[in-house]
Amino acid sequence: MILYNENMKVFITGADGALGRATQETLRREHIQYVATDIGQLDIANFKQVNETLLKHRPDVILHFAAISNVDACEQQKDLALRVNALGTLGLAIMARRINAKLLYVSTNFVFNGTHEKPYDEYAPLNPVNEYGRTKMLGEYYVRDICTAYYIVRTSWLFGPGAKTHISKFLTASDKPQTLNALCDQFASFTYTVDLAEALFTILKSDNYGIYHVVNSGVGSWLDFAVKSQDIMKFKTAINAVKTEELNLPAARPRYAPLASTAYPFLFGHTLRSWEDALTDFCKYLTSHINR
Ligand SMILES: NC(=O)c1ccc[n+]([C@@H]2O[C@H](COP(=O)([O-])OP(=O)(O)OC[C@H]3O[C@@H](n4cnc5c(N)ncnc54)[C@H](OP(=O)(O)O)[C@@H]3O)[C@@H](O)[C@H]2O)c1
Repeated sequence: MILYNENMKVFITGADGALGRATQETLRREHIQYVATDIGQLDIANFKQVNETLLKHRPDVILHFAAISNVDACEQQKDLALRVNALGTLGLAIMARRINAKLLYVSTNFVFNGTHEKPYDEYAPLNPVNEYGRTKMLGEYYVRDICTAYYIVRTSWLFGPGAKTHISKFLTASDKPQTLNALCDQFASFTYTVDLAEALFTILKSDNYGIYHVVNSGVGSWLDFAVKSQDIMKFKTAINAVKTEELNLPAARPRYAPLASTAYPFLFGHTLRSWEDALTDFCKYLTSHINR
């Protein structure tokens, strides 16, 4: 059993992404030593490089965030999505086992098909409707089959500094356009990267291995998110409700795929705050950082 110690060494893939940035903040604050890599330092689709890099650093914990996270890009570049999201994860799972490191793999609510009438818990059957979800699901299978000391953390609709979603980018922009399109017919959970990073730190300190759903509480559409942001930030942009079919996107989307979190509150006695409260904090952060 590998127990938490303050001298543990953490290794991050995809460290320049939204979740990577928030997690680095948490680790710095907690004085944990870490090695942060993104594609410039370590391309996870190159197994030889993954092998050499992990043998060199020999971390105690691998936080595996690297992915092609753009859902439509995965549909348009299926081979790349498979190489990075699925095979990249295969290589990391093999190396985690070889060097006896714990592996924390971040997965997605898009492993579900979105036809449920209630939020998906950790035990719901996987049935993705697009290549992003399928390749992330294959990544999950590799981690489960190869590693014993692993955590699979599924999350949904990240927002926070550096997040690439349409509305996160809109909120971060100092020059706001006159109109903002917001989807009104897809529903899921929202997750503030700062809150998720804290939860990941709680999980990785433990040896409570397994599958987790970690999201802020509550369910909404991007339209709900945009309207709540406007309430808080008072921007003048007009919000247009749009339906998925109007956008003609390359990848299908699950219509209703919120996550129900059961293992995390049971094992750690903690539930993440509502997405509205987390969004209020994010908007405060933006107000103090934009136009400075
Ligand atoms: N964003 C969401 O709403 C969401 C929801 C559920 C789950 N997740 C999962 O959460 C994790 C973190 O998401 P995120 O939003 O922080 O994603 P992100 O901002 O796209 O970060 C992922 C990082 O991985 C990098 N990367 C891409 N290909 C790579 C490769 N071959 N080798 C090494 N690095 C590579 C990306 O670089 P480029 O920017 O150059 O591509 C990016 O810096 C991902 O595994 C994602 O699947 C995200």
